[in-house]
Amino acid sequence: MDYKKIITARIKDTVDLELETIERLIEIPPKSEMGDYAFPCFSLAKALRKAPNIIAEDMAKNIYKEGFEKIENLGPYLNFFVDKAVFMKNTIETVLTEKDSYGSSEVGKGKNITIDFSSPNIAKPFHVGHLFSTAIGNSLYRILSFEGYNCIGINHLGDWGTQFGKLICAYKRWCDKEKLEKEPIKELLRIYVKFHDEADRDSSIEDEARMYFKKLEDGEKEEIELWEKFRELSLKEFQKVYYLLNVKFDSYAGESFYNDKMDAVVEEIDKKGLLVDSNGAKVVMLDEFNMPPCIIKKSDGATIYATRDLTAAEYRKNTYNFYKSIYVVGGEQKLHFKQVFKTLELMGYDWAKDCNHVSFGLVKFADKKLSTRKGEVIFLEDLLNESISKTLEIINEKNPELENKEEVAKKVGVGAMVFTYLKNSREKDIVFDWKDMLSFDGETGPYVQYTYARAKSILRKLGNGSGEIDYSKLNTSEEFELVKYIESFQNAILAAIDKLEPSILTRHIIEIAKAFNKFYNLHKIATEEDKEIKNARLKLVEATAQVIKNGLNLLGISVVESM
Ligand code: ARG
Repeated sequence: MDYKKIITARIKDTVDLELETIERLIEIPPKSEMGDYAFPCFSLAKALRKAPNIIAEDMAKNIYKEGFEKIENLGPYLNFFVDKAVFMKNTIETVLTEKDSYGSSEVGKGKNITIDFSSPNIAKPFHVGHLFSTAIGNSLYRILSFEGYNCIGINHLGDWGTQFGKLICAYKRWCDKEKLEKEPIKELLRIYVKFHDEADRDSSIEDEARMYFKKLEDGEKEEIELWEKFRELSLKEFQKVYYLLNVKFDSYAGESFYNDKMDAVVEEIDKKGLLVDSNGAKVVMLDEFNMPPCIIKKSDGATIYATRDLTAAEYRKNTYNFYKSIYVVGGEQKLHFKQVFKTLELMGYDWAKDCNHVSFGLVKFADKKLSTRKGEVIFLEDLLNESISKTLEIINEKNPELENKEEVAKKVGVGAMVFTYLKNSREKDIVFDWKDMLSFDGETGPYVQYTYARAKSILRKLGNGSGEIDYSKLNTSEEFELVKYIESFQNAILAAIDKLEPSILTRHIIEIAKAFNKFYNLHKIATEEDKEIKNARLKLVEATAQVIKNGLNLLGISVVESM
């Protein structure tokens, strides 16, 4: 039941205003004494030539009041107090009928959205920064699909570029084949770092690497085979992480996919009169827009990252005819995407405006400074496994009798990390700290998962509440607050879509969990004196669990039935 819509329609019957204008003006009052919704009458004063408080008074007299406890004016505001029993019944029953689809809609029906996310680089570690992109992208994918959009998840793998010449060169000199099979990325990283050390001493090795890359580009058998081997080994490693995170993609078209498609785009840019010579390189000038030029071809004729992104953008438009094209990539690439989108616009593509860079902050460690050049990286897989084992320790301490401890630790440990990435607005940096992340109290993944498990354990013990339910028994302010959060669950989802910001939903789930715990700590559910209270409260518990489950699922986090 959408109260805002109902209120809007009732107001429309008493004053001559556009529906949209009315809906926009409706507020949620800061205090519950002022009702659940309020309509300020200031903007009507001029047209009606009356003081706002008189207008509010008149409206209060004339408005149709059924379904509301009361509608009255307080000065220039018209305040709506919903009929709580009706509100409780409608909200809870809707959740319990719609179950896993509660909060979903078809607003995105018929609209395709491509989401470029995760996109790690072959032969390099899948690191903590890539989890940021993976968590946000996966959650946007789930959220948008839930509201009816047709999403295409694209893993734009970094699987092409001059670094592969270096890697082939390093492979031939130093690779330990056995290690490569066992820990491919660690071995590839080791020889890559060694290459740089060597190049610092003797730069001629760089020429050798260039030669190998040239051979690769020319499609020579041996180089292609090596490149394919690196790609395959890396993907196998990445799959372990995607498996732990339960993330899937619809396409793995990475940078190499565009190799045979770039010439046409470069030619197109040239034909449109945008390609300019700059010290041998080919660029698109963007100084008019206060940006450095977008490089299309380097002076040695090689294409680069931007060339591939321009080609990919066109390819995606032609293949998926997207309504929106989203790139979930770190903030350090802001300029890159501005240049790419501007170039698309200059090429005459009005859909350039539908391309969105969803950027995010940095991941910092409270006690470490890392240098990739020296090979000091933290592998995400190691970190996820550490989170799982730390969670298992906590469970062993708190609930040693628990069944399937390993399985629970996996879901809670992985969930804790994902939650950390989705908790604050994405542009904010994250300081990685185990204690904060794994705590069962405070605004953490384990806290929300624990709240769900607690609700489920209540239902296992006391049943689901039976017979005719008298929802007017849910009359405490804690119950009402909780149901209000449940009722506005979909609003939070839609707001998250509007800003492409999953944290809006995360915060809402945290509020639901907090409101539930407050209710649970203050009020008894198993009151034998009053069976009706017990039955109604059990329905509320069931609805709460359902909404938390739906919410966490949209963040890409699995619930556990007990922990
Ligand atoms: N591979 C890049 C990186 O690790 C991210 C690619 C993002 N997607 C894109 N279309 N540029 O930084």
